[in-house]
Amino acid sequence: MKHWTSIEDLRLDARRKVPRMFYEYAMSGSYNEETLRANRADLEKIKLRQRVLVDVSGRDPSTTVLGERAALPLMLAPIGLLGMQHGNGEILACRAAQAAGIPFTLSTMSVCSIEDVAAAVDKPFWFQLYVMRDRGFVRSLVERATAAQCSALVLTVDLQVLGQRHRDIKNGLSVPPKIRFNNAIDVATKPRWAWSVAFAKRRTFGNLAGHVKGMESVKSLAGWTNEQFDPSLSWKDVDWIRSIWPGKLILKGILDPEDARAGVKTGADAIVVSNHGGRQLDGAPSSISMLPSIADAVGSETEVWLDGGIRSGQDLMRALALGARACMIGRPFVYGLGAGGQAGVAKAIDIFKKELDVTMALTGVQRIDQIGRQNLAFGVPDWR
Ligand code: GLV
Repeated sequence: MKHWTSIEDLRLDARRKVPRMFYEYAMSGSYNEETLRANRADLEKIKLRQRVLVDVSGRDPSTTVLGERAALPLMLAPIGLLGMQHGNGEILACRAAQAAGIPFTLSTMSVCSIEDVAAAVDKPFWFQLYVMRDRGFVRSLVERATAAQCSALVLTVDLQVLGQRHRDIKNGLSVPPKIRFNNAIDVATKPRWAWSVAFAKRRTFGNLAGHVKGMESVKSLAGWTNEQFDPSLSWKDVDWIRSIWPGKLILKGILDPEDARAGVKTGADAIVVSNHGGRQLDGAPSSISMLPSIADAVGSETEVWLDGGIRSGQDLMRALALGARACMIGRPFVYGLGAGGQAGVAKAIDIFKKELDVTMALTGVQRIDQIGRQNLAFGVPDWR
């Protein structure tokens, strides 16, 4: 659509089209949202170095991630409840990512199941795993991802307990939403959303319901994580996952060089420098501010990726200049999904692509592997 010229446009449109409980689930951070804000503020402190009169006529924004070609240094992050931003949201987002030539990650806490998505798309996608107390169930999820030919497993390591997001509690976040007096008008004024969800494949947590007894009644993310997620999770469990998963393994949620070194020892193929989009430890530093030290510590041994606050192609350039090989995005594509389904996700990816292309041109860069700290105007900021 013509009027979407930035990720901010998609956000504003999603806010109009998606019921408040789900829009606010996506955009919120935990507690005082200090870390959520730091992710953005610290990115904006990085200034790019403008270069002129360099031949940039052969620009190529493609790269490789985990040895595979990707059209951009960009991946769609695992997001819970995507199918509540738009009916069949997981399938639509996966299709948009695959059409654009970048990876899509399906969340454990998705609405469409692994099998639903596998049946609806042409190429392999990635699966994100939470480790729950019931290790038999965890094993069965890994087996289902293997059977669905998922090409990488993204193990989230920063959510053994859930950081509180005040709005989820106030909104009574549930899947499917309970229609109550105070949200009836909200839902009634979102007819396109209601239509898409009413005719979607599912309206519950597709990977859970029907697979383990009692999970039919799982409605709330917070309730489920409090009961089922395992606070005893440790590096030993990563070794166990490594032993039952035959493919590429990615550790998501590393924010400290020491943990990054431990991650490399597990044989992980990539780590994602992340504070879970400012949704977990409030008061933690921004992801971007921890990237240089983590990239220095392990960048030569494993792929280092980043998420948290990436909203533009300019931000992609900033993260790459500081040592990320690629970035995951969450909210930008969620907003696209809410604003326009598959076309909205495609638009979000296209916005990143065009912005990165122009940014490469104006910084005098032709290829992704040329990007480095020399592209920063004032070097790495001191964020302390
Ligand atoms: C789950 O991963 C969440 O951040 O809500």
